[in-house]
Amino acid sequence: MKTKITKICCIGAGYVGGPTMAVIAKKCPHIQVTVVDLNTERIAAWNDKDVANIPIYEPGLSAIVEEARGRNLFFSTDVEKAIEEAQIIFISVNTPTKTYGKGKGKAADLKYIELCARQIAKISKDDKIVVEKSTLPVRTAEAIKSILDNTGNGVQFQILSNPEFLAEGTAVTDLLHPDRILIGGETTPEGQEAIQALVDVYSNWVPEEKILTTNVWSSELSKLTANAFLAQRISSINALSELCEKTGADVNEVAKAIGMDSRIGPKFLKASVGFGGSCFQKDILNLVYIAKSYGLDEVADYWEQVIIMNDYQKKRFSTKITQTLYNTVADKKITFFGWAFKKDTNDTRESAAIYVADDLIAEQAKIAVYDPKVSREKILADLDYLKTRSQEENTASLVSYENPYEACQESHAIAVLTEWDEFTTYDWQKIFDSMLKPAFVFDGRNILNKTDLESIGFIYQAIGS
Ligand code: UDX
Ligand code: UDX
Ligand code: ADP
Repeated sequence: MKTKITKICCIGAGYVGGPTMAVIAKKCPHIQVTVVDLNTERIAAWNDKDVANIPIYEPGLSAIVEEARGRNLFFSTDVEKAIEEAQIIFISVNTPTKTYGKGKGKAADLKYIELCARQIAKISKDDKIVVEKSTLPVRTAEAIKSILDNTGNGVQFQILSNPEFLAEGTAVTDLLHPDRILIGGETTPEGQEAIQALVDVYSNWVPEEKILTTNVWSSELSKLTANAFLAQRISSINALSELCEKTGADVNEVAKAIGMDSRIGPKFLKASVGFGGSCFQKDILNLVYIAKSYGLDEVADYWEQVIIMNDYQKKRFSTKITQTLYNTVADKKITFFGWAFKKDTNDTRESAAIYVADDLIAEQAKIAVYDPKVSREKILADLDYLKTRSQEENTASLVSYENPYEACQESHAIAVLTEWDEFTTYDWQKIFDSMLKPAFVFDGRNILNKTDLESIGFIYQAIGS
C-alpha cells in the first residue's frame, strides 16, 4: 500500500480529534484534513465565523484553526464522504466507561468505536490505514480489524495504534512539541508500510528520533500505563498530604525534596483535592479490568488503589469543610472557585468539584460557583449526571456567577477547586469584607498565599500542611 497521503479524515471532533487535526493541518499544508462528527452543533461551532466560538477552549488553538480552516482543514458532518476520500482515517470518538452490563463502571464502552469500524468497512472502496487515536483497551485493534476484514468490500485495511498524550490546557504546545509520538502496527511488510506512512506525516514537524514504533499491543498498553503512572504519582503525594497534616510536615516541602532526586523528578507532585479529567480514572479502571480478565488479581488491586485513594481525597476535602464549619453547612453559602478539572480548559469531566459539591449539597449547603470558562448549564448537567437527587433540587442548591466577587458575598467559606491563575490576583481584602465571619478559605490546589490571607483575617486551610 504505497499510496501518497493527500487526504486524512478524523472521526470525532472532540478534545482529542479537534486540536490534533488542527495541528496536523497547520504543519502539513499539502494534506487535506477533514474532521467529521455526528454532532451537528459541534461541527457548526468549529465552523463558526468567529473563531473565538470554537467548541473547545485551549490556549493557542483558535489561532491555528483560523490559519488552517478553509485552506486544508475542514469540519463536516458528512462522515461518509470524508471516509471514502481519505487514505488515513483517525478514530477519535469517545470511549467512556461502561454504565451498563458486564464491566459496568470499569470497562471501556466500545460501541462508538465499533460503529465507526462498521461504517468504515461499509464505505471504503480502496485500501485504508485506520488509526486508533482514542484511548482504547488493549486488543481493540484486533476487534476493529476483525470487523473491517469481515464486513468490508474486500479492500485492505491496516490498523495502527497512535495514542494521544496531549494534556488539556496545554494541548497545542504538547502537539507542536511532543515528548514522543508512538505508533504501533503489525510486523508484516504491509504493517510496516502503514507505520511509515504515518511516520511521514508526523516527521513534517517532529524529529525522527522522537517517533517510536512498536507492535500494536505495546502501543495500546503504553498509553494506559503512562496515564496510570501519572495518576499514581498524584495519589501517592495525596496519600502523603494527609500524613503531613497529622504530623506537621508540609507536603510542598516534601514534594520539593523528593522531586530533586533525578530518579523521581519534580513533575506531577502537586498535592490536590484529587485528579479529574476524562483519562486517568477511565484508563486505570480499564487497566484493572484487563488485569482481572486475565485473572491477575494482585495486579488489578494494586492499580485500583490509585482510584480508591483519589476518591478518598475528594471525600476528605468535603468532610474537612463541613467539620471546620462547626459540623454543619446546612443553608450556608459556600463559594467554589473553579469547576473545570484543571486550569486553562473548559472541560469538566470527572472534575473533583462535581463530587465535592455533591457531598456538600447532601449536607444541605448552598453552593455558589465561579469558573472563568465553564457555563452554568454545564455545571448543573455535571451534577445531574450523578443522579444523587432531582434536577430541581440541584438547581435550588447551586448557583453560578459570572463575577467572582459577587460569588463570595455573604459566603461562609471559599473552596478553591481549580488552579486558575486569576484566583491569585484577586483583591482578597475586598472578598474578605463581603463575607460572613469567621471567613474560611479551603485551598484545594495550594495556590494562595497563607501568610497574606491570614493577615487579612481569613482562616486558611491548604492540602497537606
Ligand atoms: C536505596 C535508594 O535508592 C537510596 O536513595 C537510599 O539511600 C537507600 O535505598 P539501594 O537500596 O542501595 O538504595 O539501591 P537501589 O539502587 O535503590 O536499589 C534497590 C533495589 O531495587 C535493588 O534490589 C534493585 O535491584 C531494585 N531495582 C532498582 C529494580 O528492581 N528496578 C529498578 O528499576 C531499580
Ligand atoms: C492526561 C495526561 O497528562 C495526558 O498525557 C493524556 O493524554 C490525557 O490525560 P489531562 O487529563 O488533560 O491529561 O491533564 P493532566 O495535566 O494530566 O491532569 C489530570 C488531573 O490531575 C487534573 O485534575 C490535574 O489538576 C491533576 N493533577 C495534575 C494534580 O492534582 N497534581 C499534579 O501534580 C498534576
Ligand atoms: P475526546 O476527549 O476523546 O476527544 P469527546 O467526547 O470530546 O472525546 O469527542 C468525541 C466526539 O466523537 C464527540 O463529539 C462525538 O459526537 C463523536 N462521535 C462519537 N461517535 C461517532 C461516530 N460514530 N461518528 C462520528 N462522530 C462520533
